[in-house]
Amino acid sequence: MCGIVGYVGPREASPILVSGLRKLEYRGYDSAGLAAFSNAHVEVRRCVGKLDNLATLLREQPLAGTPGIGHTRWATHGRPSEQNAHPHRAGKVVLIHNGIIENYLALRAALEKRGRTMKSETDTEVISHLIDEEVEQGVGLAEATRRVVRKLEGSYAIVVLSESEPDKLVTAKSATPIVLGLGEGENFVASDIPALLEHTRRVLFLEDGEVAELTAKAVRITTFDGDPVDRQPRTVTWDPVTAQKGGYKHFLLKEIHEQPQAIIDTMRGRILQEAGDVGLDADLRAGWAKGIKRIVLVACGTAWHACLVGKFLLERLAGLPCEVDYGSEFRSRDPIMDDESLLIVVSQSGETADTLAAVETARERHAPVLAVCNVVDSSIARRASHVLYTHAGPEISVASTKAFTTQLTALYLLALQLGRERGVIDADRGRRLVGDLVALPALVKEALSRERLIERVAKKYGNASDVLYLGRGINYPVALEGALKLKEISYIHAEGYPAGEMKHGPIALINDEMPVVVIIPQDAVFQKTLSNLKEVESRGGRIIVVTDTASPELEDVAWEMLTVPKTNELLTPILLTIPLQLLAYHVAVYRGTDVDQPRNLAKSVTVE
Ligand code: AGP
Repeated sequence: MCGIVGYVGPREASPILVSGLRKLEYRGYDSAGLAAFSNAHVEVRRCVGKLDNLATLLREQPLAGTPGIGHTRWATHGRPSEQNAHPHRAGKVVLIHNGIIENYLALRAALEKRGRTMKSETDTEVISHLIDEEVEQGVGLAEATRRVVRKLEGSYAIVVLSESEPDKLVTAKSATPIVLGLGEGENFVASDIPALLEHTRRVLFLEDGEVAELTAKAVRITTFDGDPVDRQPRTVTWDPVTAQKGGYKHFLLKEIHEQPQAIIDTMRGRILQEAGDVGLDADLRAGWAKGIKRIVLVACGTAWHACLVGKFLLERLAGLPCEVDYGSEFRSRDPIMDDESLLIVVSQSGETADTLAAVETARERHAPVLAVCNVVDSSIARRASHVLYTHAGPEISVASTKAFTTQLTALYLLALQLGRERGVIDADRGRRLVGDLVALPALVKEALSRERLIERVAKKYGNASDVLYLGRGINYPVALEGALKLKEISYIHAEGYPAGEMKHGPIALINDEMPVVVIIPQDAVFQKTLSNLKEVESRGGRIIVVTDTASPELEDVAWEMLTVPKTNELLTPILLTIPLQLLAYHVAVYRGTDVDQPRNLAKSVTVE
């Protein structure tokens, strides 16, 4: 989960590397470091903690020279420290790495037997020593890298700089993201597109099992075995500004307010309003799911909550039986999957290792895989047999918001398409369901406009130590999502629970201090949820009602009433999530936490 940047060209490398790393700091911020070639050798600057610490060090000890490489770290092997910070040097070779080398202990032992001394606790350092051994034998840097990656087990993206060949960078990829940026007389490498956007829009994605050699004038890709690879560059449409905060105090608030547009972009070109139908992308044309008898939805975190709503949508609209599983649990339960079982994986980053592993598990069983992803050409998207992109744009804040509501939008579109195709939904009902979706962005905008009241409620309950979230049916996952948002950005202990399940245990937690957020739209389970709400009231809980209808019986029991506009039942999760996102955001601002980069978290979790 680290951020990687590299530059080869005539300009001073370090300012380019630092600004690139700033765009990637959401990937991990335990330590940071740079290296650049100057005066016939490679100099390194590293320090523990955030990029600002490195910027301070560079002011005290400027780093001149080019080419250069830069890294921002999310610790997996070896605690956050300067010693474990990247880049790692061994002899003439200096290297940065994102991922995990699973066989590093064996490689390390062999290296130490050959007289090498490790200076860090990391898995990464073994790679720099192995490449340096080859370089010492006079092997070229690219060939040395190819020989070494064939010995590595695990996931890795590496970029190597060597004093033996100071005009180039070499990078290699296996199950961890790497993208190359093509400039005029200069070239770039990074673990993510935002780091490249201020310099170029022409990019090349490196595939697993490939090595690229970058000089100022050229980029040459080969397989690990040295076979040349010819690939056309792509043009990225994202503009650098979208990656910046656009005037909001935090990326999170910007992304919450971007949801109406993100939902529009996600349904754009996929709505057949007259026909009351949906036309999805190229590889999801009519008939793509013929023969599918069951669906298994798999993801992690917020995306897993989207899967729980997806189950409701696909069973209700397409009449297909669905199961939902965590990415980290799916493989180890040896799942029954075959070519009639569709695996749907949902992932914002498209790089979450647990979810990627589920894709591989399904592929091994010849089951088709549909990936619902936000990052184009991400690893999960490339490994799936079908992809349905959410068009939320870059999501920088660690806490996922617009990706969630666009995932629900995409799953609604999918369920509608399959429901029409399977004859579960006729054209009239299709037109109503499509009509409700087309009307949704304006309703989300309306829900966002009620932010001031939510901010007041957040300040009133911001000192709570525990909060309970309750919901029923299709909105039980919304209770889970509300609790997760509060947990991850305000560090308050919060739990989401099916409202009907509360009396089987969690009701013991309720006292007259505890805020209890109850998601209770006027739907088929309203009365049942109301009786659960009464149970909370009788134990003195401070009830915050989130609903689409401020009815008298709710007014009677609510300490606070947060409302959203009405829509059809199957779209209520998207609307009812908005006040929960804003509540969590304003509680976090009130408590002064690091809203966009909460402690202990990173945006995409690329280790299992
Ligand atoms: C959500 O706010 C978190 N960032 C986290 O739970 C996230 O949803 C999870 O890691 C899955 O990420 P993905 O969607 O990129 O696969």
